[in-house]
Amino acid sequence: MPIAYLNGEWLPVEEAKVSVLDRGFLFGDGVYEVIPVYNGKLFCLERHVARLKASLTEIRLSEPVADVVWVDLLTEAVEKSGESMAALYIQVTRGADSMRSFVYPADPTPTIFIMVSPAPQLAHREIKPLQLVTLEDFRWDKGHIKTISLIAAGMLKNEAIAAGANDAVLVKDGEVTEATSSNLFAVIDGVIVTPPKSTRLLHGITRDVVVELAKANGLPIEERVLLPEELARANEVFISSSTMETWPVDRLDGKIIGNGEPGLVWQKIDELFQAHKGL
Ligand code: PDD
Repeated sequence: MPIAYLNGEWLPVEEAKVSVLDRGFLFGDGVYEVIPVYNGKLFCLERHVARLKASLTEIRLSEPVADVVWVDLLTEAVEKSGESMAALYIQVTRGADSMRSFVYPADPTPTIFIMVSPAPQLAHREIKPLQLVTLEDFRWDKGHIKTISLIAAGMLKNEAIAAGANDAVLVKDGEVTEATSSNLFAVIDGVIVTPPKSTRLLHGITRDVVVELAKANGLPIEERVLLPEELARANEVFISSSTMETWPVDRLDGKIIGNGEPGLVWQKIDELFQAHKGL
């Protein structure tokens, strides 16, 4: 059974319990991170900690947890789990209050929960390209906050699955933002294009690594507005996330992308990414 950390205690995940008055349960009032573990080491740990702190600041929850030494705690969680290829999940909520109220408690006691689950797919990747459908991005305008309020993403993901695809490409005000739980890249006229960072999409750590690797290796890449009509004529499309690394897409709205095979640019990016992991 995977090990969990809950408010200072280490225990099997199924024994970890929180109050029904926890604001995470009642309001989705909390933030989270997912960090890949390769050979027992947390990948891009400092960047994930920085984003966690930024999310906590955005929801005004940084003060009560300012003293938590995140790097030490997360490293200890991986050590305690004994897992080698895994995904670490950390969630911080505003904790339980005495009653349900929209007003933040004056002196909250946050709930800090960590679990480390095996992720064998990180060790043995069987690349089967994804099929995406385009859907209207009806999520909120604070997509850069990694909030646990994920119902909109869940609705969109499941709408895509009901339509026979694996996931959705989201479009807001005529611009592509991202997929429901990953960032998106398209290869257009030989240039890798990914939507720029804004408050409408998550500033993915994997996305940053891809952009840096492309730049360092002379692959043309642009962070700029991406229109759905450009995406429709892209030679390649791929996504990025901590749990998928980078992954090719072979169909968009039922239409085959390029020649239907994982593209050469994605293959190069994947090769660079695998080398960067340093396994
Ligand atoms: N999701 N965009 C969204 C909306 C996401 O939820 C995620 C990650 C990403 C990619 O970010 P990163 O490269 O930092 O993992 C982009 C995680 C994996 C999840 O919710 O499980």
